[in-house]
Amino acid sequence: MAEQPSNPFQRPLPSGVVPETVVVRTEERWVAIMGSMLGIMMVVIVMTGVTSALHPPSNVEVVDPQTLHLNGEFVESNLGTALEPDGSVTVRIIAVQFDFVPRCVRVPADTPVRFRLTSADVVHGFLLPNTNVNTMVVPGFVAEVRTRFKYAGEYEMPCHEFCGMGHHGMVSHVSVVPKDQFPEQGLLERTSCAAK
Ligand code: CUA
Repeated sequence: MAEQPSNPFQRPLPSGVVPETVVVRTEERWVAIMGSMLGIMMVVIVMTGVTSALHPPSNVEVVDPQTLHLNGEFVESNLGTALEPDGSVTVRIIAVQFDFVPRCVRVPADTPVRFRLTSADVVHGFLLPNTNVNTMVVPGFVAEVRTRFKYAGEYEMPCHEFCGMGHHGMVSHVSVVPKDQFPEQGLLERTSCAAK
């Protein structure tokens, strides 16, 4: 009989069925490995949740979705981009089936930008490609995301949470203009840049 190579992967497969004890031992080993991986992941999630106060960004502040248009910070006249006394800007947007209101917002580049969003109906998603802006927009809660745009440019803003038949068309824009041009713009240009 030819000598068996020491590397088990190079040995020919045994003829006939692999003995049941070997199958059981192998499967038990894999179950143990998978179980410990799941255990480690659960420990990491719970630990970071507790130590870093991890939570969905939407669930910090509550707001009544039925009275958004009547009072509070999300009334129509308060939507869009607002200049803060410290030079930063705050953008307030309402997500609603199937649009973002306002549809287009203008912000300055190289400036701290704070997005505050809420939903008037169902769960929507707010995402700006190639930035850290990515949050769910849950009715009843205010989602807040802070960012800073390095360069001027146009950002498409697709809803990324399935919200109904018109979900695919729920896209809006963030228009980033050079910092020095921003204050020169009138309130209307600053708060909306939708096509006329
Ligand atoms: Cu809104 Cu999908």
